[in-house]
Amino acid sequence: MTGQLWTLRGAHTEYTVTVPAHGRWLELVAWGPHGVSDGPSPVAYDGPVPFLTAGDAAPIEYATDADRPFTGADLVIETSNGQRRVGFVHTDARIDADQRELAVAFADAVTGLRATVHYRVPAGTDVVQRWVELTNDGTDALRVVRAGSGGFCVPTPHGALLSHQWGQWEQEFQLSHVELGHGTFSIGSSQGVPGHLHVPWLAVRDTADPAGSAWGMGLAWTGSWEISAERDTGGLTRVRAGRQLVDGPLELPPGESLTLPVVTGAYSPDGLDGLARVWHTHQRLLAGERLTPRPVLYNSWEATYFAVEAQSQLALARIAAELGVETFVVDDGWFVGRNDDTAGLGDWTPDPAKFPAGFDAFIADVRALGLNFGLWVEPECVNPKSTLYAEHPDWVYSVDGRPLTPVRNQYLLDLGRPEVAEFVHSTVDGLLRRYDIDYLKWDFNRPRTEPGRAGGIAPLDLDGAHVANLHRIYEQLRRDHPGVLIEACAGGGARTDLAMAARADVFWPSDNTGPLDRLAIQYGFLHANAPHLLSSWVTDAPGLFDSRPRSLAFRFVLAMAGVLGIGADIRAWTPDERAEAADWIARYKEIRDVVTHGEVHLIGGPDQARCAVQYTAPDENRVVVLAWHTGRLDGAGLLPSRPVRLPLRGLDPAARYSHGDRHYSGSHLATVGLPVHWSATHDADLIVLTRD
Ligand code: DGJ
Repeated sequence: MTGQLWTLRGAHTEYTVTVPAHGRWLELVAWGPHGVSDGPSPVAYDGPVPFLTAGDAAPIEYATDADRPFTGADLVIETSNGQRRVGFVHTDARIDADQRELAVAFADAVTGLRATVHYRVPAGTDVVQRWVELTNDGTDALRVVRAGSGGFCVPTPHGALLSHQWGQWEQEFQLSHVELGHGTFSIGSSQGVPGHLHVPWLAVRDTADPAGSAWGMGLAWTGSWEISAERDTGGLTRVRAGRQLVDGPLELPPGESLTLPVVTGAYSPDGLDGLARVWHTHQRLLAGERLTPRPVLYNSWEATYFAVEAQSQLALARIAAELGVETFVVDDGWFVGRNDDTAGLGDWTPDPAKFPAGFDAFIADVRALGLNFGLWVEPECVNPKSTLYAEHPDWVYSVDGRPLTPVRNQYLLDLGRPEVAEFVHSTVDGLLRRYDIDYLKWDFNRPRTEPGRAGGIAPLDLDGAHVANLHRIYEQLRRDHPGVLIEACAGGGARTDLAMAARADVFWPSDNTGPLDRLAIQYGFLHANAPHLLSSWVTDAPGLFDSRPRSLAFRFVLAMAGVLGIGADIRAWTPDERAEAADWIARYKEIRDVVTHGEVHLIGGPDQARCAVQYTAPDENRVVVLAWHTGRLDGAGLLPSRPVRLPLRGLDPAARYSHGDRHYSGSHLATVGLPVHWSATHDADLIVLTRD
């Protein structure tokens, strides 16, 4: 079957691979719009390779260190006597009739290792999901030293323009661009969690065509990971993505199999903005029937912090209900021993001193206001000052004889241990069964520092075991409690990857809700994630982290870009502020179906005079535009700003849209643009255009 081409077909995209006549590996032929595979391959290379091997220059899909000894293999295997260089021979391939699923198999005669490279294009999308299954059919105990999920080859003849997202706590999802002439760019996390520092997401364009073809890669792995991009002398950029094996090589004993995480590739002919829409479509499909407009929520964290108790929570809930909020979430501080961040984690029993009439009665009081009820948990962590830790000190990650590293005064439970997984599952499941809960905020506030388990049982894939059990518990909870929405949070946005996008209903992208900082965070976030995943709260100005003033309108319009919530101390809001808030919430309820299902266009950016998000309803009858004034509003001798025109995208040029008594054609909105006029007191707009 060597020499044969297999083409996977997406909605507008195709992805063609082949096994060359020598049969040693699988190569990309072309990846791009329908028809891209016709004619000569844009990535093939048949020139000389002095001082290299043919594989180093070939557009290999999944390369071993025998294939690419110098320029970066995806898979490195070691035998029990320390030898490397597994080399495959192609054995078999299967493709389905719809050209959406392909499996290409290889075997190594020396070790008995089998590798099947899988592809899947979910119907209606322009993404290709890839994963690899390794099976040891031999008799030697093999070790996987590098466990990449796949390589993506992108033609970048003029230079590679890489887009990535970096950050830190309270500054996540900072979108940044790097021109890569030659050499390697790499990002990753060794924290046992995707992390605040980098997002497992990358986009590649040719420097000569930034508005054109864009290729993206996203990893579905909630542990440690690495993504690198290398541009070779011939102009090919090869992106490798996969797990980072922080616990050392993976064991692959005879007779056993190992499936490596899915890495997903995305293609758009319309630059980064188009690529964002490809990711959105994919994530909406991952959400399946759970893709519904999310309720407007109130979260008490910034209003009360750890000083949670029934009376103040109910005071907040009463006002929230009046404003039109639908779900009231009690954040950290509701359980025994939890008066600050030094104690209590692990002891998941409501504190009777804080809820003297009982937690059931408190929830009933919240519900009597017409609100749904949500609760915060952080079940993988434990404070040393807790009953759980006193009873099970061996449950935390540790290295024998070495001190534990507290982060935020807490340790991390070793979720890979069956008894810990059982504890975490039964704790959360128990809370959901025992109390009338509709919404769960699952937090995670520290990385893993200790690479070991009490007793020193080694070698162990702690990272893999933690992630596997985390995913399984999320899946079980969703199956057993289908009505409960789950928000994934990790001290903000440290746990956002495609695996979590398939298991959580919404992400908390950052603890920073300061208006202008938040704008940049959300702008980056929406490049990689659909709006239904973007939880956003209106908080008090000046913000905790970003004191630059912005109006209440700005903060509401900003939070409406995804899932609207309020996190301010609304007890202190004036009657006018409450009336304004109620009005915004009512307006959000009218547009949230378009925000959830609409086609997104990111206009301008947070550092530009124009910054807006356009959501076009699937039937194109309504277009929602959220727009923000990013200029200075600090009163330092400001002139009123001049009107800005927002070019709207993707509309039928002949269609006519109205906004109040103004009428526009689709082509006018694209070329002249939608006018907005800001001033020091008017710094944001929500505009709904309806088709005439
Ligand atoms: C970190 C989260 O990001 C916050 O929203 C809040 O839930 C705190 N943890 C509570 O400890």
